[in-house]
Amino acid sequence: MFESKKPKKIWMNGKIIDSERANVHIMTHALHYGTGVFEGIRCYKTIQGPAIFRLRDHLIRLENGSKFYGMKIPYSLNQIETAAKEVVHENKLEECYLRPIVFRGAGPIGVDPTNAPVQIAIIAINMGKYFDEKKMETGITCMISSWRRINAKIIPPHIKATGQYINSVLAKTEAKKAGYDEAIMLNINERIAEGSGENIFIIKNKEIFTPPISEDILAGITRNSVIQIAKNEKFVVSERTLIKEDLYSADEIFMTGTAAEVTPVKSIDGKNIDNGVRGPITTILQKKYLDAVKGLDKNYMNWLTLV
Ligand SMILES: Cc1ncc(COP(=O)(O)O)c(C=O)c1O
Repeated sequence: MFESKKPKKIWMNGKIIDSERANVHIMTHALHYGTGVFEGIRCYKTIQGPAIFRLRDHLIRLENGSKFYGMKIPYSLNQIETAAKEVVHENKLEECYLRPIVFRGAGPIGVDPTNAPVQIAIIAINMGKYFDEKKMETGITCMISSWRRINAKIIPPHIKATGQYINSVLAKTEAKKAGYDEAIMLNINERIAEGSGENIFIIKNKEIFTPPISEDILAGITRNSVIQIAKNEKFVVSERTLIKEDLYSADEIFMTGTAAEVTPVKSIDGKNIDNGVRGPITTILQKKYLDAVKGLDKNYMNWLTLV
């Protein structure tokens, strides 16, 4: 579960400050209009100390998203990278979840963000597993959401903008209320898109499939890592349009995300996937991924930034 304790220190607008002082004004533009962009990054305990997984890639996505929404970050990527390491160090964390956020601060009320200054903060919190620890083995239960994933013609789904997460909140809340762990959203063309905070993969006849970026998904960094790992393990991976029936008839399904890591899916809409146990290929990829993030596989050391 998401075990978050209030952090002691936050990096905000260039300085490490006490978390009690890391506040925003009620007229913060992002609070009213969702004008923010954020990241979720994990830092793992390794034998060389805490290491942040694919930090640069996450920060590039953050910078690209900020640029798209016309928010010029007043710090370079190198400075933000240093800040991320500093906040882990200052909170004396061995492993944690990092949440950088760029947003429009207090400004005039009105949709036009021009006069709301761009702010940036990085939070580091303790986090265990996203789902129950034992579900990393037994798998989570999912439902096909009645909510459709936002469409690229309305809001670009490949950017992690704060406002668009209201779509994920609707899907997640519906799933939880109905007794499931997670929601899987179709896009408006009735094809499989992704979870509320995860990408999705299926396995059929030993081949691995995942929806392409054009299906209104976030280009997940975990998704990309798992594709690279799977190819290195000589699995065939294809980005292919998937429909609901592909899920019901899959041999294995798993979801990927920084928070969720590689999580097996046990059932969808109450129907077990195969026997309803973690499948053999999911087991291999989950282990390989966890080895990579923890610095236990020398092939993936370049994905780690030591703090
Ligand atoms: C909607 C959505 N899809 C997929 C992902 C997985 O992305 P990543 O692997 O980069 O964390 C996330 C998490 O950030 C997400 O919010």
